Amino acid sequence: MKQFAVFGHPISHSLSPRIHKLFGAQTGIALNYAAIDTPPEVFNGTLARFAADGGVGANVTLPLKQDAFALCKETSAFAQRAGAVNTLSCIDNYNGWRGDNTDGVGLIRDLTRRHGLDLRERRSLLLGAGGAARAAAHALLDAGIGELVIVNRNAARADALADAIGDPQRVHTRYWNDLKNCGSFDLVVNATSAGHARESLDLPFGIVTARALCYDLSYGAAAFGFLAWARAANAGKALDGLGMLIEQAAESFHIWHGIYPDTDPVHAQLRAELPLRATD
Ligand code: ATR
Repeated sequence: MKQFAVFGHPISHSLSPRIHKLFGAQTGIALNYAAIDTPPEVFNGTLARFAADGGVGANVTLPLKQDAFALCKETSAFAQRAGAVNTLSCIDNYNGWRGDNTDGVGLIRDLTRRHGLDLRERRSLLLGAGGAARAAAHALLDAGIGELVIVNRNAARADALADAIGDPQRVHTRYWNDLKNCGSFDLVVNATSAGHARESLDLPFGIVTARALCYDLSYGAAAFGFLAWARAANAGKALDGLGMLIEQAAESFHIWHGIYPDTDPVHAQLRAELPLRATD
């Protein structure tokens, strides 16, 4: 049986093994999919052991996506723009890895296909400037949003991301404490990791309209704080990143197995288990 795994630190709460096993059962593909807790210092060695033991594909999550990018023999164009890899596939007769990044397509599919959102011309706010924010920014711009304002606690990182994107017509940065003077947004994406540390974000209510979608790239408890703020701010919709997680997994599944699983039943099953506590 083919061996797959997700690497991260921490990883025990990851839903990826369940999602891939559900996809495998649905498509009749036999696979093993493990969750391997891997601090960054030992990532290369752990991955090499995984390959030596027959591992042919892996997902990579926090905080290893940039390390994964660095160790690949080849990478997709989107992974290069994001500077991060979340999907590794064995190449060259098990002698190296190809890296893809399916986070961006996962986000856009969840927003447009599952939630029927028309992203074109949406005035959007991106909170954060790390690896997750990078993939989200490129994917949203590719999907045709209007202005993208990037705000980050460390303002220099926001500027660096805007410079790397290189679209000064559409992409602007602002200081966090200047948000109250930035007008309102149709889409607010939380790509910070604050929720994982149970830290709350200082966000004024006035930045969302009644038709705004607030989207947290995290899911589960890590998303609760931002979603609670979005509801209190009367945003039209508040969503966590469960749908993005399932869609990026489907894209990885397609890369490894050449077949697209149906994400609807998996989404329905996991959504029933995972409290959203938001307007969906
Ligand atoms: P990831 O790969 O998830 O993006 P990362 O590269 O460590 O992880 O980035 C984390 C992001 O969350 C950064 O934008 C970080 O802001 P800084 O660049 O200022 O560190 C942001 N972040 C983390 N905790 C935060 C908090 N309590 N408030 C605001 N932003 C926070």
